[in-house]
Order: sequence, then structure tokens, then C-alpha cells
Amino acid sequence: MRVHTKMLIVLVLAVFMAATEISASTGGNSRCIQCHGNHAIIAKGGGHLYIDPAKFTGTTHEIIGCTSCHDKVGKRHPDDRIRPSRANCKECHAAVYEEYAHSLHGNNARCADCHNPHAAKPLLSVSGRDINVQCAKCHDGAKTLASHSQWLPQAALHIDALPCITCHTGSKNYVITLYIEKREKDKPHRDFEPARYEDLAKLLPAAKKTGALVDSNEDNFISLDELKKFNRGARYKGMRLWGMMTPEVATHTYQILDNRWDCTFCHASGPEAMQTSYVAFPDKNGTFNRIPVEKGAILDILYGTPDFYMLGATRSVTLNIIGAIIVIGGLLVPIIHGTFRILTIKKRKGH
Ligand code: HEC
Ligand code: HEC
Ligand code: HEC
Ligand code: HEC
Ligand code: HEC
Ligand code: HEC
Ligand code: HEC
Repeated sequence: MRVHTKMLIVLVLAVFMAATEISASTGGNSRCIQCHGNHAIIAKGGGHLYIDPAKFTGTTHEIIGCTSCHDKVGKRHPDDRIRPSRANCKECHAAVYEEYAHSLHGNNARCADCHNPHAAKPLLSVSGRDINVQCAKCHDGAKTLASHSQWLPQAALHIDALPCITCHTGSKNYVITLYIEKREKDKPHRDFEPARYEDLAKLLPAAKKTGALVDSNEDNFISLDELKKFNRGARYKGMRLWGMMTPEVATHTYQILDNRWDCTFCHASGPEAMQTSYVAFPDKNGTFNRIPVEKGAILDILYGTPDFYMLGATRSVTLNIIGAIIVIGGLLVPIIHGTFRILTIKKRKGH
């Protein structure tokens, strides 16, 4: 009996301590956010002092708390003029750190060049376009397009339909993710652009999630019928669905992968590989939420996804034959290019 009471006290204490610890850490965040989440702080020392609360809230880094990474914040901060410490990503992400350090890119960019530690998102909440925006900070879009056009037909289309990491890391488990794109009504010749949360929210009653635009019965599953219904109406509303082939597992093994020269790596993967697809909807804080689409819907190119046509993966026989001709034609380009590179290797080394 006595033992039990003791255990109970210990248990209650443990729960109590855990609870106070949690409130202490989030309470701590809000103290920091009071100043650092206020635009006025920019005047005190520049934009780098401002943390966007909308983007920080809800992230795993919010749960671990500001002071896990900035442990030495003085009692009289900021008046003490002691510069708070910053954690190194390596302390908590040792495996990623090692993997990245050994990659081709290890000396080219730091973790914080690609990730804002105050808006860190998991792979599945980042859109393919937003991944490419990270790369474009250093890799000029026009230059990348020009260099890839040398061997990749329709390079612009490819770059729009693939996150760079699909070809440049060992990322894996590819699926097709569809994003809603939109063009301004008053500018008929403008290109489609990824629709923002605000664009979509105003098309729906306030209580609804943006997913309801396609998932009309809101069962968190998009049937081929719902997809068709959206597509039939979308054109008139200046919208379309844009498909990208995205990985579900990210790695930091940056490299030039030999098999990405090989068009069949993606194009001959067959209908089976392209069965799984999602529609991703933007959320308020800049993240994306995915809703799964009925298996195989992506292969129904006429109604399911009129703007996404991956040669070799669709089930239309005629289109596949036309596709094969294009791909075989296209294959000659890298082969000729590759041969040319081998022949000129001595010359290029001399430079
Ligand atoms: C009363 C407002 C205020 C509060 C509360 C506050 N800060 Fe600051 N913080 C500042 C100001 C102002 C600066 C700029 C100081 C300077 O440049 O000397 C700063 C600077 C910093 C810096 C960057 C210093 C640098 O340039 O490297 C970090 C990191 C930081 N604060 C973290 C925190 C954390 C974590 C908390 C909560 C535990 C916190 N701050 C709470 C006002 C505040
Ligand atoms: C996961 C770790 C992590 C968390 C959590 C975190 N920070 Fe940071 N913070 C960093 C790192 C790393 C840097 C440096 C970024 C860089 O080098 O570009 C930084 C930079 C800063 C800076 C700017 C200093 C500078 O010179 O760029 C401020 C201010 C700051 N953090 C405040 C906060 C506040 C306030 C919170 C909580 C609301 C917070 N941080 C939460 C890791 C973190
Ligand atoms: C004090 C520990 C700690 C530090 C330091 C830290 N992280 Fe994290 N981070 C975590 C935890 C815990 C998670 C959630 C689980 C996971 O993915 O490992 C996480 C998740 C992430 C995610 C994925 C977002 C998510 O919600 O899963 C990214 C991206 C990330 N961290 C980047 C960074 C970068 C970049 C740095 C350095 C600037 C950094 N982290 C420093 C603890 C930390
Ligand atoms: C060249 C850009 C780049 C660099 C440098 C980089 N990452 Fe990433 N990382 C990405 C991309 C792209 C993703 C996919 C999700 C995203 O875009 O945030 C990602 C995802 C992650 C994730 C989440 C993985 C998941 O499955 O959700 C973590 C954690 C992470 N990175 C940590 C780090 C750490 C730690 C470093 C430094 C050692 C680092 N990253 C350096 C580009 C980079
Ligand atoms: C902070 C700047 C920076 C960012 C962000 C960045 N890179 Fe780089 N990257 C470089 C530099 C510098 C080089 C070396 C010079 C060059 O080839 O342009 C490089 C080289 C490369 C190379 C060629 C490697 C070689 O040695 O041939 C690839 C591939 C690459 N980056 C992919 C990416 C991808 C994919 C992303 C986004 C996820 C990215 N980079 C983001 C700076 C960056
Ligand atoms: C379809 C696959 C594929 C995609 C998508 C792709 N790359 Fe590449 N990339 C390659 C291959 C293959 C090479 C090697 C080409 C060569 O050596 O001539 C390469 C070369 C590079 C290089 C080094 C040569 C140069 O152009 O300077 C960089 C940097 C690079 N890519 C960045 C990117 C970025 C940034 C993106 C996204 C905007 C991207 N790549 C998208 C396959 C791809
Ligand atoms: C990493 C995957 C990947 C690789 C490697 C790849 N492609 Fe593609 N390809 C795609 C995707 C995704 C699309 C976009 C489909 C869409 O949006 O219509 C596409 C589209 C195309 C199209 C245009 C189809 C149309 O709608 O007009 C052609 C042609 C094409 N690829 C040929 C090639 C050739 C030739 C190679 C090899 C040099 C190659 N691809 C390598 C993924 C890839």
C-alpha cells in the first residue's frame, strides 16, 4: 500500500513537472516573440532580427523552443549586449549533417542557406516549386535552363515538373503531386502561377478548408469524379492543375546522378509507378497539405489531368507510340552530347 502511494506521488510529480516544463518553454517562446515577432524590431538592427510568428508557429522547432537553440540569452537581454548563442544544426541532425557534408554540395551551401530555422518544414509540406526557389537563390534560373537545354528536350517543362532534388539527390519514392495554378483575370496572356492561400480561400465560404475546392464532399479523398468536376470548371475560373513528379523521401546526397541522363528512368517507369498522386493545397502559413487522389486517376489524361502528360506512363496506346518516337529521338541528344563530351575531355581539362 505504502509503495503504491509513493509511486503515485512520483507519477503525479512527473506529470506536473512535464506540464510546467512545457508551459515554461512555450511561455518562453512568447516572451521572445513579443519583441522578435514584432515588425518594430527591424528598426533596432535589421530584418535578421524579425521572426515571422505565422511561419514559426506549428513547426517542430517551435515545440523545442527558442532557448533550445539560443541557450545563452542573458537575463537582461538585449540590454546586456551579450550576443545569444546559436545551436549548430549538427547537434540535433547529426545523420543529415554527415550525409550532406560528404555530398558534392557540402562546401557550396550551409544548412541555413536552404532552411530558415524559424520556418523549418518537413518535405511533404513544401511544394515542388518552393524547393526550386531555394535552389534559385544561388542557381540563376536562366543559366540552369540554358545548361540543361543542351541535353534535356523541353528543359523548361522538365524544370517546372520536377523539383531539382529529384535529379540531384538520392531522394526516392516518387509520386505525382498536383498543385492549383491560377492566372489573373484581367491579364489574359499571363502565365499560370501557383495559387496562394488567399487566392483560394476567397473562392470558398470562410469555414471551409482550401481542400474543399477539389474534394467537394470533404472526405479527405479525391475521387476521379471530383477531379474531373474540378477540371471541367477550372478553365473558366482561370485555374488549372499542374503536376510535378515529387519524392516522398528526401536525402542530402547531392550529386550528378548518371541514371538521370537516362530518360527511361522516369518515362518508361510504366503506369504502375504513376498510380499514386495527391493534390496539395496551400495553407495560411506557407505550408502545403496533401489529399490523396484515387489510384490511377493521373493516367486519365483527358479528364483527370489534362495538363499533365508523362510520356510512357500514360495508358493511351496512340499517345505512347508518339511519345516513344519523341523519346527515342530525344535519346539521341544525350548520346551525341555524351560522346561529344568524351571526345573533348582532354580539351576541356586543358581549360
Ligand atoms: C525586450 C525585447 C526582446 C526580448 C524579450 C528578446 N529579445 Fe532578442 N533581441 C532584441 C534586440 C533589440 C536585439 C538586437 C540586439 C543588438 O543588436 O544588440 C536582439 C537580438 C537577439 C539575437 C541576435 C543577436 C545577434 O545579432 O546575433 C538573438 C538570437 C535573440 N535576440 C534571441 C532572443 C531569444 C531566444 C529571446 C527569448 C528568450 C529573446 N531574444 C528575447 C530584443 C529582445
Ligand atoms: C532549431 C534551432 C532554432 C530555434 C528553435 C530558434 N532559432 Fe533563432 N537561429 C537559429 C540559427 C541556427 C540562427 C542563425 C541563422 C543563420 O546563420 O543564418 C538563428 C538566428 C536567429 C536570429 C538572428 C541572428 C542573426 O544574426 O541572424 C534571431 C533574432 C533569432 N534566431 C531569434 C530566435 C527566436 C526569437 C526564436 C524563437 C521564437 C528562435 N530564434 C528559435 C536557430 C534557432
Ligand atoms: C535542439 C535540437 C535541434 C537543432 C539545434 C536543430 N533542429 Fe531541426 N529539428 C529538430 C527536431 C527534434 C525536429 C523534428 C524531428 C526531425 O526531423 O528530426 C527537427 C526538424 C527539422 C526539419 C524538418 C521539419 C519538421 O518539422 O520535421 C528541418 C528542415 C530542420 N529541422 C532543419 C534544421 C536546421 C537547418 C537546423 C540548424 C539551423 C536545425 N534544424 C537545428 C531539432 C533541432
Ligand atoms: C542545397 C539546399 C539544402 C541544404 C544545404 C540543406 N538542405 Fe535540408 N533539405 C533541402 C530540401 C530541398 C529539403 C526538402 C524539404 C524542404 O524543401 O525544406 C530538405 C529537407 C530537410 C529535412 C526534412 C526531411 C524530411 O524528410 O522532411 C531536414 C531535417 C533537413 N533538410 C536538415 C538539413 C540540415 C541539418 C542541413 C545541413 C547539414 C541541411 N538540411 C542542408 C535542402 C537543403
Ligand atoms: C547558398 C548558395 C547555394 C544554394 C542555395 C544551392 N546551391 Fe548548388 N551550388 C552552389 C555553388 C557555389 C556551387 C558550385 C558552383 C556551381 O556549380 O555553380 C553549386 C553547385 C551545384 C551543383 C553542381 C555540383 C558539381 O560539382 O558539379 C548542383 C547539381 C547543385 N549545386 C544543385 C543544387 C540544388 C538542387 C539546390 C537546391 C536544393 C542548390 N544547389 C542550392 C551554391 C548553392
Ligand atoms: C531531369 C533531371 C534534372 C533536373 C530536373 C535538374 N537537373 Fe541539374 N543536371 C542534371 C544532369 C544529368 C546534369 C549533368 C549535366 C552535364 O554534366 O552536362 C546536371 C547538371 C547540373 C549542374 C552543374 C552543371 C551546370 O549546369 O552548371 C547544376 C548546377 C545543376 N544541374 C543544377 C540544377 C538545378 C538548380 C535544378 C533545378 C532548377 C536542376 N539542376 C534540375 C539533371 C537534372
Ligand atoms: C527525373 C524524371 C525525368 C527524366 C530523367 C526525364 N524526364 Fe521527360 N518528363 C518528366 C516529367 C515529370 C515531364 C512532364 C510531364 C508534363 O507535365 O506534361 C516530362 C516531359 C517530357 C516531354 C514532354 C511531353 C509533353 O507534354 O510534351 C518530353 C518530350 C520528354 N519529357 C522527354 C525526355 C527525354 C528525351 C529525356 C532524357 C534526355 C527525359 N525526358 C528525361 C520527367 C523526366
